[in-house]
Amino acid sequence: MKRIFSTREIVLGVTGSIAAYKACEIASRLVEYGASVTPVLTKSATELVGPATFEAITGHRAVIDMFEPLQNPEVEHIAVATRADLFLIAPATANILAKAAHGIADDWLSTTLLATRAPILFAPAMNTNMYTHPATQANIETLRERGGHFVGPDSGRLACGTTGPGRMSDPHVVIEAMLPLLCQRKDLVGKHILITSGGNREPIDPVRFIGNRSSGKMGRALALEALARGACVTVVSGPSETPLPHAAEVIRVETAAQMAEAVLARSADADAIIGAAAVADYRAANAAGQKRKRGTGPVTLELVENKDIIAAVGKTKRDGQFVVAFAAETTDLAENASAKLTKKEVDLVVANEVGAPDSGFGAETLRTVFIDAQGPSGTVELLTKETVAERLFDRVAQALNA
Ligand code: PMT
Repeated sequence: MKRIFSTREIVLGVTGSIAAYKACEIASRLVEYGASVTPVLTKSATELVGPATFEAITGHRAVIDMFEPLQNPEVEHIAVATRADLFLIAPATANILAKAAHGIADDWLSTTLLATRAPILFAPAMNTNMYTHPATQANIETLRERGGHFVGPDSGRLACGTTGPGRMSDPHVVIEAMLPLLCQRKDLVGKHILITSGGNREPIDPVRFIGNRSSGKMGRALALEALARGACVTVVSGPSETPLPHAAEVIRVETAAQMAEAVLARSADADAIIGAAAVADYRAANAAGQKRKRGTGPVTLELVENKDIIAAVGKTKRDGQFVVAFAAETTDLAENASAKLTKKEVDLVVANEVGAPDSGFGAETLRTVFIDAQGPSGTVELLTKETVAERLFDRVAQALNA
C-alpha cells in the first residue's frame, strides 16, 4: 500500500450520506499510507460529520464553501483539480452522481469534479430504491462510459432499516479499489495470475486437524500487487484470517487435495502461477469419521504424502507461462531452494528463511533471495512482504511481456 499511496495527492469528496463516518477511517488509512489527502465536504455532509475531524486526520483544511475567503491558494478548485492524482467520492450520494453525470457545478466538489482530469472513484451509498432507480442507474452508466470508476455498493442492512444494495463498501475495500488507479506500472494488464495462499487443514477426525502457521499475508500482498498492476487475479486460499482483496476471485479450500483440484482446474488458463501457500505435505491416511476418544493409550497416526501442486503445474506448464514456487527453509537456504527449482521445474523460487520472528510465517517481513536457472539474484535481504511482491511481479511482468 505504502509504495503506491506514498506522496500521492488524493481529493476525498464526502457527501451527505449516513456512511460519511466511514470516510474518516478512509482518510486516516490514506494518511497512514503516506498520501496527502484534501478533504472536501458538501454542505449536507457537514450535517453528519464535522470538518474538524477531517482536518485533524489529514492535516489539511477541509474545503466546504466555494466562496469562502481563500486562505490558501493551494485549495483553489482549479489548482486542486489539476494537482490531484485521484478523486475519491466516498460516500457518493445519488445527488453527486446526478450532478457529475450532468455536468452540474453548483458547489466546490461538483465544480472541481468538472475541472479535473484525474481518475474519479465513486463509492455509492444510498437507499436501495434510490440506487436501483432508473435515473441513478442511467447516471452511473453515463459516468462509467466517460471513464468513471465505481466500488460497491454492497448489499446489506441500510440505515433506513431496509435490506438491499446501497451500503457503502467497507473502507479497506474502497482503498483496495484505489490501487489500480494510482499504480503507475500497468505491466500486467490482460494477464491472469493464479496465486496459492495460506496453509491447509488436514483432518484427523471431524474436530481435529494437522495445520501450519501460514497467515496468508504473503498471498494477500501478492494479490494486491498484481491487481494494482492491472492483472486479473485468482487466489486459492487455505483457511486464514488475513482478508483477501475484494477485487480478486477467491476460492476457499481446506485440504491440500482441495487446493490441488482448484489450482489444476485453473492453471491452464493462467499466465503465471505463484505457489505462496504452505501446502500440507502429508494427510492422515485414515481420518476418523467420528471424534476420536481419549483414554485408550498412545495413538499412532499414519501419514501419507499429498500431491505436490506447484510441481504438477511446473511439469505441465505451457510455453509463455511463468511458474513461481516459494521455498520455506530453516537451513541451507540457497542449496535447498535451488534443488526445489530443479525438482519442481519452476521458473523461479522465492527462497525464504523461516523460524526467526521477523521472517516467514505470520511475520510482516521475509529474509529472502530469488533463485532462477542462473542462480541467486543477489544476497539474502530482509524485505517487507509488500516489497517481495513488488520485486516478484517485476520479474513476472518482464517474463510475460518479453
Ligand atoms: O502466509 P504467511 O504467514 O505470510 O507466510 C508466508 C510463507 C512463509 C508461507 C511463504 O512465504 C512461503 O514460503 N510459502 C511456501 C511454504 C512451503 O510450503 O514451502 P515448501 O518449501 O514446503 O514448498 C515449496 C513450494 O512447493 C511452495 O511453493 C509450496 O506452495 C509448494 N508445494 C509444497 C508442497 C505441496 N504438496 N504442494 C505444493 O505446491
